[in-house]
Amino acid sequence: MTDEPKLLESLDPIQEKALAELEAVQDETGLSAWRTAHLGKNSAVMQVFGQLPQVPKELRPQLGQKANRVKQALEAALAQRAQALQEMALQRSLQGERLDVTLPGRPRGRGRLHPNTLTMREIYRVFGEMGFQVYRTREVETDEYNFELLNIPQHHPARDLWDTFHTTTPGVLLRTHTSPGQIHVMRQYAPQPLRVVLPGMCYRYEQVSTRKDIQFTQVEGLVVDQDVTLADLKGTLNEFYRRLFGRQVRTRFRASYFPFTEPSGEMDVECVLCNGAGCAMCSGTGWLELLGCGMVHPTVLQNGGYDPEKFSGFAFGMGPERTTILRYRIQDIRDLWGNDLRFLEQF
Ligand code: PHE
Repeated sequence: MTDEPKLLESLDPIQEKALAELEAVQDETGLSAWRTAHLGKNSAVMQVFGQLPQVPKELRPQLGQKANRVKQALEAALAQRAQALQEMALQRSLQGERLDVTLPGRPRGRGRLHPNTLTMREIYRVFGEMGFQVYRTREVETDEYNFELLNIPQHHPARDLWDTFHTTTPGVLLRTHTSPGQIHVMRQYAPQPLRVVLPGMCYRYEQVSTRKDIQFTQVEGLVVDQDVTLADLKGTLNEFYRRLFGRQVRTRFRASYFPFTEPSGEMDVECVLCNGAGCAMCSGTGWLELLGCGMVHPTVLQNGGYDPEKFSGFAFGMGPERTTILRYRIQDIRDLWGNDLRFLEQF
């Protein structure tokens, strides 16, 4: 037989004890431990329910109702405590991880264009106006494209002009000029007429000095069509430099030699520093060398897939660093590719 009055009386202390313990609970783990202890299968209230069947019928409702009230009170208290803990945690994180959105952001280093890139873009802009398209080709070339197809056979003395860096793969090298691009673009588009500039980095095995580096950019130009003459070459280049430097600029052509052009020439511009009087920049001559040029050699046209009986063309190769140095009065060409931020940040 169960002791009903005792059971009934035990309920109040059960509730008090549970509520008192709940006060001390501080976190999620404590809450779930408390739930097991005071509302779980083996908790005191649940045991009272377990004993109901043995209680005399007439007393059952009273004990059952009371036990239910206690259970509901504990459940309500648990929910309340859970919510209070959640709010406390929120307050804590708001206090502890305070974010001041009025603080200024961390400044980002501003990027900028390399001075030679600025010059290259200026060059593309002017050639663009004159109907030229930009065509890029690879910096790592084969001996065939860099020399052979440009009419410079294996033991030709002209190879001395373009000593370069060779890779460990025989016949693969760093291009010494943008001229191999002539063959690439011709082979892609022959027999259509061409009017392109071929820009990019070139490499030579050179003694480094204030005026020469082992790497530099070139902008190659190539025009192939029917009836292209030397007059077109001179007219185009003169117009180009007038558009780049101003209408007053004075230029001159000199005869020269390249195996891939015939006839060949070089173009000079009057020294922009001394206006032709002669200074250190122009070694006292009054002129600055700008580019090599000429009429595309029939063998090269043929190697590119054009019939030299029907087509003719002109080509030129200029060094943008020259122009960059003049524009910004840079003293030492090695600064350009030396990767020193103190230099680069000035542009
Ligand atoms: N490729 C030559 C050089 O680097 C320049 C050039 C290009 C000359 C095109 C004639 C025609 O010296």
